[in-house]
Amino acid sequence: MGSAAASPQPSGNLTQDELKRVAAHRAVEFVESGMTLGLGTGSTAAHALDRLGDLLRAGALPGVAGVPTSLKTEAHAARVGIPLLPLDAASGASIRLSIDGADEVDPDLNLVKGRGGSLLREKMIEGAGDRFVVIVDESKLVPRLGCTGAVPVEVIPFGAPHTLGLIRKVFDGVPGFHARLRTVPAANGEDSDAPFLTDNGNYIVEMFFEDGIRGDLLDISDRLLRITGVIEHGMFLGMATTVIVANKDGTVTVIN
Ligand code: 5RP
Repeated sequence: MGSAAASPQPSGNLTQDELKRVAAHRAVEFVESGMTLGLGTGSTAAHALDRLGDLLRAGALPGVAGVPTSLKTEAHAARVGIPLLPLDAASGASIRLSIDGADEVDPDLNLVKGRGGSLLREKMIEGAGDRFVVIVDESKLVPRLGCTGAVPVEVIPFGAPHTLGLIRKVFDGVPGFHARLRTVPAANGEDSDAPFLTDNGNYIVEMFFEDGIRGDLLDISDRLLRITGVIEHGMFLGMATTVIVANKDGTVTVIN
């Protein structure tokens, strides 16, 4: 883990959503006038969008614009008045800072992202920028990636069951490993066979590990990415430059 600095915040019994807001507001303090930002997706990143919108509408931070990591974020940012840019070299936009949540953060600041389904655009945009600030509440800190839920993999719909089989082979013999195609719940809330579609029109394979991923993450990443049909996975390795953690006790820890 990198170096950490804790600072006091108003304490009290904050809800998880309030903790997300605390982390998000702290990250927005890094934004300077004229910056192009990568705008993350999810309930934590949404607090950063709201804060940025408030500041922009108040006339602070002139010249700030954002590159959205999902259609949902694009709509949210437009609603709160954040000027938007495409991820397009021709636009001349160089992303100085990205702010986004994460599903898991390990001690080396590797992440699982994409349980919201936006991992591909997130990885493209956050990987393109100079600095990537991750905002989480304490519950997202894990000893190993894959401890608390699915690790998503974006795959093309063509031959998706075949690709799922190849993904399973990467983890052959790993106790407790299983993988499935993500589906959208039916209107009555029950399971359905309808595949979840990403903003890019792709499917998501969800990988589950009994007690987190053991082994060399870079090697596992390579093996997944070598499967034709896999587009990207939700392990963000070595990408976070700063992690802002809102702790249960009301303090904030900034890890660089
Ligand atoms: C979306 C993501 C989110 O950042 C991640 O799922 C965390 O979400 P939340 O802030 O709602 O807990 O990667 O694809």
